[in-house]
Order: sequence, then C-alpha cells, then structure tokens
Amino acid sequence: MPNQDFKNAKKLPPYIFGQINSLKNEARSRGEDIIDFGMGNPDQPTPNIVVEKLVETVKNPVTHRYSQSAGLPKLRLAIKDWYLRKYNIQLDQDSEIVTCMGSKEGIAHLSLATLSQDDTVIVQSPTYPIHSYGVVIAGANLHSVSLKDDTDEFLKDVEEAINTSKTKPKMIIINFPSNPTTQSVSVNFFEKIINIGKKYDIWIIHDLAYADIVFDEYKAPSILEVDGAKDIAVEFFTLSKSYNMPGWRVGFCCGNKNLVQALTKIKSYMDYGTFTPIQVAAIKAINECDSEVSAIRDMYESRRNELCDGLNRIGWDVAKPLATMFVWAKIPEKYIKLGSLEFSKMLIKYAQVAVSPGAGFGEDGDEYVRFSLIENEQRIKQAVRGIKNFFSMEI
Ligand SMILES: Cc1ncc(COP(=O)(O)O)c(C=O)c1O
Repeated sequence: MPNQDFKNAKKLPPYIFGQINSLKNEARSRGEDIIDFGMGNPDQPTPNIVVEKLVETVKNPVTHRYSQSAGLPKLRLAIKDWYLRKYNIQLDQDSEIVTCMGSKEGIAHLSLATLSQDDTVIVQSPTYPIHSYGVVIAGANLHSVSLKDDTDEFLKDVEEAINTSKTKPKMIIINFPSNPTTQSVSVNFFEKIINIGKKYDIWIIHDLAYADIVFDEYKAPSILEVDGAKDIAVEFFTLSKSYNMPGWRVGFCCGNKNLVQALTKIKSYMDYGTFTPIQVAAIKAINECDSEVSAIRDMYESRRNELCDGLNRIGWDVAKPLATMFVWAKIPEKYIKLGSLEFSKMLIKYAQVAVSPGAGFGEDGDEYVRFSLIENEQRIKQAVRGIKNFFSMEI
C-alpha cells in the first residue's frame, strides 16, 4: 500500500456541516420536507442580461481557448470603475487588481503565496472557514482572536495577540460584515486596524463579500477607503452574493501591489483563469446590474424581517442583522448546554429545519446557529411554526 500520510489533507478536520447535510438528506429521502437554511448558497437566478451575455459569448469559438488567469483587462477595468463609483477609490487595473475563481479560491491562494511555517496569522473567530484554513493549508500558525460586540475590545485583543505572540504575526485576516456573526463596522474601525497594521508592520486582508447585502440605511465600508490602506492591505469581493452568481466563480482581490502580485503569480502557475464567457458576462453584471443588486438586497431584507420577527414572536430572541444573508442566533437557554451541533440535529429531527451549527465557524461559535436566508417568506413561516412546535415538546 502506498504511503497514505497525506499531511495537508489531514490538517483539515471533517467538515462539521457534512454531518448536518447527511441528516438533512436522510430526512428528505424519508419524504420529510426539510426547510434548508444551511449553506450561504443564494437560491435565486442570476440576472437575465448576465446569462444572455454568457450565451452570446460562448458561441464565439475564440472564447473557448485558455483565458487569462489575472482576469481579462476589461473585467479589471470594470472592477476599477466599481470601486470608483461605489467608494471613490482609485485603483490601477494592471498592478492593483487580480480576479479569482471565486473569492474563496483567492483567499486560499493568497495565503499559500505569502505564508510559510514560520509565519503567524491573526484571524477573527468565529469566521468563514477558508480565512483560518487557508492559513492552516499554507502551513502557517493560526492565532484566532474572538470577535467582541465592542470592536474596540476586539482591537485591544488583536494588539494583545500581537504583543504576546512568540513570533511577530505577519498578517491579520478580517471580514466585515462578518459571516457568520453578521457583525458590521464603520470606516472608523478600519482606520484603527490599519493603524495597528502600520504600527507593527503587519499585512491586513479584508473580505468584503457582503458589501451589497446591507439593510436599514447601513452602508458597508471598504477598508481601502482609509488613507494609505493600500500600503498594507488588500480586499476581496465576490460576485456570488450581490449578483446571485455563486456557481460562476468570479471574485477579485484589490489593493496593495505586493500582495496582488504575489497572488497573481501563484495563480499564473495554478490556473488559466475563469472561462472567458463567464468573465465577459461578469463585466455585464458589474457595469449594468445595480438595480438587480438593489432587488436582491430587498429580497434578503424582507426574508430577514420575516425570520427575525417570527423567531422573536415564538420567544427566540434574535437581533436583526444590519447586513449579510444570515441570522446569527444564540441557542435558547434551555438547549444551550447541548452545543450547536446537537441543537442543529434536534432542529432537523423535531422542527424539520436545517441550520449551520456555529461550531463549524470556530469554537467561539458553539453557542449559536446560523440561518442562511435562502428560503422564501412562505417557507420561513413554515419553519417558524416547526420550531415553535419543537419548543413546546417535552424532550
Ligand atoms: C465571507 C465570505 N467570503 C467568501 C465567500 C466565498 O465566496 P466565493 O463564492 O466568491 O468563493 C463566502 C461564501 O459564503 C463568504 O461568506
């Protein structure tokens, strides 16, 4: 038998969400109607003009050749215009922008391009798994810092982590509005973390996946709005959420030239870029779909209201998030000792509702479950009834 000591694969724990998925699938195969709030996988179609552009472009055989790993120049130009229009930020499309095959791929490869086993990286916790596991896969040391409601407290903890770390951290990875906690910040928070990065010479990586999924007049800032942020920071964005394009795999990374070029270089060895017709259609989305983005945001807002109002009505206190496609709900006192995995299993069994256990995003998440707003209002009402029924059971 060949050696099965697959070190990198072994570093990754079994995906906790896999257990919930199996239970969900088993229940569905028994004919149960499971309402699925599990994955952050948008359920609505991509805007029609984007699909049409793809269909038109794919008919041209020239587009069937290898594409460009760093992204078509016109796509990078569209991204440059997006930052200018949305945040009044100037970027150079040749040196400060690289596209990736979804931001998950980009984040993982940026870690691989820049980190080695002597490096330490500070990552907020709980968080979207690739923020931490990109670091683990790259063989670097992960130093998780718990998120706090008070962001100044969080920053204090980040500084403490820097000062007490055996080796000085090389990088800090953050994500606001945050998946899974939905925590949202003002530009003032970014100013403070950029100051910390500059004080200690540490790179800052920011994931802005939920830039457009914002409610109640909240506007999610870009870290690049901070003067001089480009000296030490990059930001990732994805078309997956804003444009209902999760399967298309288009994201980008912008900001500091050294980081962007490191990612560009490693990607040039690893891929030939997203299929050209997809990149061309992505240009259409970025340039011409602002009104579709507003409609997508409104849809999540109304689902958020339906779910939060419904849960609050049946005695499960949850706060309405200012952003993201999630509701991060503290497990009710009666069940909190079970932990998030067991509680999630009970929700499937007794309420026919699937959620993501908070522990899947880091130990700090174990008192929570995450609802993704990927079911419509009718189904949300049905889920709330199922949960109410479960809460009334003597188990
Ligand atoms: C915070 C965050 N970053 C990145 C991603 C991945 O997005 P993409 O589809 O661009 O890989 C997600 C997906 O859920 C996310 O929540």
